[in-house]
Amino acid sequence: MKYDWKDAGEEWSEPWGTSEAQWFGAILPRVRDCLPAGTILEIAPGFGRWTHYLRDYCQELWVVDRATDCIDACRRRFAADSHVKCYLNDGLSLSMIADGSVDFVFSFDSFVHTDRKVVEAYLCELGTKLKIGGKGFIHHSNLGHYANSLRERLPRAVIKPLIKAKIFDRKHRRNPSMSADLFRALCAQQGLHCVSQELINWRGRRLIDCFSLLTRSDPAKEKPTRITRNPNFMREAALIRAKSRSRRNGDT
Ligand SMILES: C[S@@+](CC[C@H](N)C(=O)[O-])C[C@H]1O[C@@H](n2cnc3c(N)ncnc32)[C@H](O)[C@@H]1O
Repeated sequence: MKYDWKDAGEEWSEPWGTSEAQWFGAILPRVRDCLPAGTILEIAPGFGRWTHYLRDYCQELWVVDRATDCIDACRRRFAADSHVKCYLNDGLSLSMIADGSVDFVFSFDSFVHTDRKVVEAYLCELGTKLKIGGKGFIHHSNLGHYANSLRERLPRAVIKPLIKAKIFDRKHRRNPSMSADLFRALCAQQGLHCVSQELINWRGRRLIDCFSLLTRSDPAKEKPTRITRNPNFMREAALIRAKSRSRRNGDT
């Protein structure tokens, strides 16, 4: 079924209160060291939930999505921002982007759903499109880490009531073919190095998502990836939500 985009993706920021609270409370602190950047590439922007903020941190912002309705919406929403260019692609390639031209690549809440083939294709592109020393922040699935767990092997009919009873978490359509380990290995194959990976929970207990911070540089010359486990990501969201709500209400 086609997504109706009636709230432009804002609805996905509900655990943080608003996308503004999510950007300033949860995302910006994680990408602050990469900004500002001359040119930013955002992959899979949807209706521009993060484009809206990224545009203030660069001279050029290129956004690429495979969905016509998303690219049309971004073109409308950012029509007044001449430095924002929106491109429709085939879901795999970045042929419209010049080699060695990107300072910072960003993607949030999109690669969590795509399978290994898609992630691999984009990493292959980023191995040439990023400037040497260019950086990236990619939010992707780590569900693959749990591929052999009992939870993933049980039939759907058994799982459903256990989810209802809150014994098991939902998967939130995370892709089972990707994990933090695999992402790191695929980066290395493309001359990209994962500087850090933060494994996070997403609306549940398991660390089914990962934020990978990468750079285009020789992995052999880099320090080992700093890997952190953060089971409190949703607790963090709840705090951000409470804080932004009390700020909106004018509480001291
Ligand atoms: C859940 S939405 C998230 C959009 C946006 N990142 C946000 O957080 O609001 C997923 C987006 O990924 C895009 N997408 C999915 N697969 C893609 C691919 N292979 N290449 C480019 N865009 C893709 C969809 O068209 C959609 O815009």
